[in-house]
Amino acid sequence: MKTSRVLGTDRIALVTGASRGIGPLIAREIAREGNHVVLTGRSPEELQAVAYDLRDKGADVSFLPTNLVQPWAAEALVQTVERERGGIDLLVNNAGGDPQREFDRMTLNENLDILQLNLIAPLTLSHSVLGEMLQRRRGHIVNISALAGRVAFPFTEAYAAAKDGLIGFTRVLRNDYRGRGVSASVLILGPIRGAGQGQRTAAQLGLKLPPFATESADTVARAVIDAIKRDRAEVVMMPGPGRLVKAAMDYFPGLGPAITRISGSTATMQRVIEYRRGQEHAAVS
Ligand SMILES: NC(=O)c1ccc[n+]([C@@H]2O[C@H](COP(=O)([O-])OP(=O)(O)OC[C@H]3O[C@@H](n4cnc5c(N)ncnc54)[C@H](OP(=O)(O)O)[C@@H]3O)[C@@H](O)[C@H]2O)c1
Repeated sequence: MKTSRVLGTDRIALVTGASRGIGPLIAREIAREGNHVVLTGRSPEELQAVAYDLRDKGADVSFLPTNLVQPWAAEALVQTVERERGGIDLLVNNAGGDPQREFDRMTLNENLDILQLNLIAPLTLSHSVLGEMLQRRRGHIVNISALAGRVAFPFTEAYAAAKDGLIGFTRVLRNDYRGRGVSASVLILGPIRGAGQGQRTAAQLGLKLPPFATESADTVARAVIDAIKRDRAEVVMMPGPGRLVKAAMDYFPGLGPAITRISGSTATMQRVIEYRRGQEHAAVS
């Protein structure tokens, strides 16, 4: 089935997490295809700055600030876009992230907010856009997931649950609605350099993200377009042994601690956690 019918002029795209990180690059690539792109995130100033920058480059974009952790925010966002612009052809659920703190030191509500942002909001947005998409028999939903759950990345309990959930959600959604003109793809990201949370954390700790073990944010943005044009089900974005590690973990999940130790993830995340603890202490003292 060709779903690239969702790219081009007269087509509306909604990109979440478009105020910073990888999101603005995804929005830029979609706008290059001719779509009108609605950017969303919490911060109006950052969204405005991204919108100005993309318009300078010839893109047709608008923005709507929304906090996706708030109840009903996702549905209200879709209703506003549909009222102001018409039906959404392409939804990219990119907003997400992890506070990089220990599961037991976060409150239950802080953990549930991680699920809300990384899983419930994408599911709600998908549910909200689906009706219009099915009526027009045209639509594509791209979910941005992570390898965290697949490889038992340390200190990511709620984030890993959400991102693995997003993979399962995409598989079933795709199977159920592809025959009716609406497809879905999931990009499963390892560490990303050049923009985004991993790059910011590395800069804060004075670490370098090696190109052989990371994918560039620009490559991720282009992979979104490729996933839509080729209607790809799942794309793992991690160079070198990343895919092998993922496959090995699926067969032998007990290897998790050894793999994260040998790859250096355990030591790095220990540093990140200590850094975040230091920030917590500084904030309360
Ligand atoms: N970077 C990596 O290494 C990496 C690796 C694996 C997976 N990923 C996934 O890739 C996606 C993009 O990550 P990134 O690295 O670009 O993250 P980022 O730089 O931290 O940007 C996150 C985006 O999500 C938005 N966001 C955060 N909380 C929100 C909320 N409550 N409501 C609405 N929007 C919210 C942020 O906007 P505001 O702050 O303005 O709200 C921002 O635009 C995420 O789903 C992430 O899990 C990234």
